[in-house]
Amino acid sequence: MKILVVGGGGREHAIIKKLKESREVTEIYALPGNGGIARDAVCVPGSATDIDGIVKFASENAIDYAVVAPDDPLVLGAVDALEAVGIPCFGPKANAAIIEGSKVFSKNLMKKYGIPTARYEVFTDADAALEYVKAAPVPTVIKADGLALGKGVIIAETRDAAVDAVNSIMKDKAFGKSGDQIVIEEFLTGPEVSVLSFTDGTTVVPMVFSVDHKRIGDGNVGLNTGGMGTVAPNPYYTPEIAERCMNEIFLPTIAAMNAEGRTFKGCLYFGLMITPDGPKVIEYNCRFGDPETQVVLPLLESDLYTVMRATTDGTLAETEVKFRDAHACCVILASNGYPVKYAKGFEITIPDDVSGSVYVAGAAVKDGKLVTSGGRVLGTTAVADTLKDAIDKAYEMTDKITFDGAYCRRDIGEAALKAGK
Ligand code: AMP
Ligand code: GLY
Repeated sequence: MKILVVGGGGREHAIIKKLKESREVTEIYALPGNGGIARDAVCVPGSATDIDGIVKFASENAIDYAVVAPDDPLVLGAVDALEAVGIPCFGPKANAAIIEGSKVFSKNLMKKYGIPTARYEVFTDADAALEYVKAAPVPTVIKADGLALGKGVIIAETRDAAVDAVNSIMKDKAFGKSGDQIVIEEFLTGPEVSVLSFTDGTTVVPMVFSVDHKRIGDGNVGLNTGGMGTVAPNPYYTPEIAERCMNEIFLPTIAAMNAEGRTFKGCLYFGLMITPDGPKVIEYNCRFGDPETQVVLPLLESDLYTVMRATTDGTLAETEVKFRDAHACCVILASNGYPVKYAKGFEITIPDDVSGSVYVAGAAVKDGKLVTSGGRVLGTTAVADTLKDAIDKAYEMTDKITFDGAYCRRDIGEAALKAGK
């Protein structure tokens, strides 16, 4: 099998490393991949949002199966375009990827089908939104409708901050057209749980629940990032919570998408909060999470290609999806200054004894050397029998990797460790 993986971050590296374990997979191409992925796949120059370019490469190179990993090409219809030329894919079509592509769509879907989520209002007019936030309780949560590189959510602690947020999204267009519509919603509290699931549009199989660490600083303070580390399993995952999530959220979402004529296949990501009133949906993503994938896939015992293929072929109910009974921790090493401003081009040294556990996100090859090229540079994942050992081992490996200005949070998994006691 010749596989094409569209994308070029740590998540894609984790998918590629797992696919390499499959006996059915013979060749893997990554478009565009990155300097680290180049050690595990053939990198194809191009852009993950150039749908015509992706289709052209896949057709000309007799690709048997394509995995479209990032949100933008899914929302832009990469799966539709590849399937139109006869290439089966992992991932939803554009009409289902809208579950992430439009927050207004997903909120309205949840309201229509009674799926628990924060109460909300939709605004297309900035003045009406400003009027509303002046009287709304604080904190208030303000979300741009469309994709915004994970930055389109503002939690306003004061009314003034809420007014600033509406102005910046709707009037100053901080996120471009993504801010033509906004959702203003109730602030929820409780532990957050990331649930990645495989689905073929009928059956939904949740993967091991994980915990993301979104803020830049220790103790979960400072600016939001793409994710600074993850652990799995999530200590708030109990059989009771899992059953409630399945009956109140996962299955109703799959059914709702079918009822709307938007069958979802691929990986549906449920961003949940376990509130005092039970689990509620914070957001849906139409793809694997990053860096959740870097802890979830190392725990997968089943053949990833077989499971992915079952989501495409509609045979997930008959396919075994098994996870190891162990713990995983991923620590992200970022460039100093991320997520605001940072320098690039520093040489990265990864000792051979840890390279198998490293997922590279932002690195390029220059003059034969691996150098930093992004904010989040790489992640190091350890798997162990206990969470404490997984955390210690992940940091031990992270500390062996060097580049100028390397920064990581030192508390990944600490809250989970406390909660698990
Ligand atoms: P997102 O960029 O959509 O992943 O959202 C970023 C973060 O904002 C989430 O992980 C939550 O921590 C927080 N958030 C989003 N919506 C709410 C809400 N209604 N109440 C409290 N926190 C929220
Ligand atoms: N880690 C959150 C995301 O992938 O959106």
